[in-house]
Order: sequence, then C-alpha cells, then structure tokens
Amino acid sequence: MKIRVINGPNLNMLGIREPDIYGKVTYADLKKMIEEHCRQRKIDVEVLQSNHEGDLVDMIQECYGNFDGIVINPGAYTHTSVALLDALKAVSVPAVEVHISEVDKREEFRQISYIRSACIKTITGHGIQGYIEAIDHLANCEV
Ligand code: DQA
Repeated sequence: MKIRVINGPNLNMLGIREPDIYGKVTYADLKKMIEEHCRQRKIDVEVLQSNHEGDLVDMIQECYGNFDGIVINPGAYTHTSVALLDALKAVSVPAVEVHISEVDKREEFRQISYIRSACIKTITGHGIQGYIEAIDHLANCEV
C-alpha cells in the first residue's frame, strides 16, 4: 500500500509555532515518526509539506493512479480552499483529514472545513498521533 501524507502551510514550523497548541515535536520528528510507523507496517509512505496552495493541489493530483491513500492536514487552507476540495474530489483517492489541534473547539473560522466532504474520515485534537491513526485507518480499509 502507498500513502502520501500532505501537510500545508506552517506545519514545517512544528515545535516552534505555538507549542501550547501544536506541541514541541518538530516537523522533522513528525516525519521520522510517520516513516518509522510505516516501515513497521510495511506501508510505502511519502511525507510532504508546502506553504503554497497550488503546490498542495499538485501534490493531490499526483496521487491519481500512484497512491492508494492520502493523509492531509492542509493547515489554514482547510478553512479557505475550494481548490483543495476540488483536487481531492478529482482524484477520488481515499483521504483522511488530520488536525493536530481540536479545530472544532477553537475560533469559529476554524470550524469550517472545505475539504471534509471529500474525506472518508476526520481526526482532530489527537496531536501528532492523529497522523498515525489516519494511516492505520487507510491501511485497515484496504484489507
Ligand atoms: C491545523 C489547524 C488549522 O486551523 C491551522 O491553521 C493549522 C494547523 C492543525 O493541525 O491543528 O495550521 O490544521
């Protein structure tokens, strides 16, 4: 099984940005943790990040025919991007939406997710563990 993990803007700042909300684990540590988990589960994984909306659209489109699942944390674009929603719908690769923080209990603008309707599951507020749960969900759906 091949999974692409796609992270949006400011997730490269993990460990530095608002540690009381997003924790002290760095993006490099998150990437390592995901890769190690997937190695153990014999899942082929690619972990990517971009601060640019169009790049994220490209990353989703490239999944068509090449990946069996997508784990996506679009960061702030979650709450603004019709383009990401359309890209997920276009490829129709099973996708799980992940947020480190509990977005539904934060500011009102974070309670809107444009991509949610194109995802098979949403995981919020489980910290970086949410990525592992999302990967396991996709892997368990496959069998
Ligand atoms: C986030 C929540 C978003 O509202 C925010 O803009 C982020 C991170 C999360 O993982 O909790 O950048 O997606």
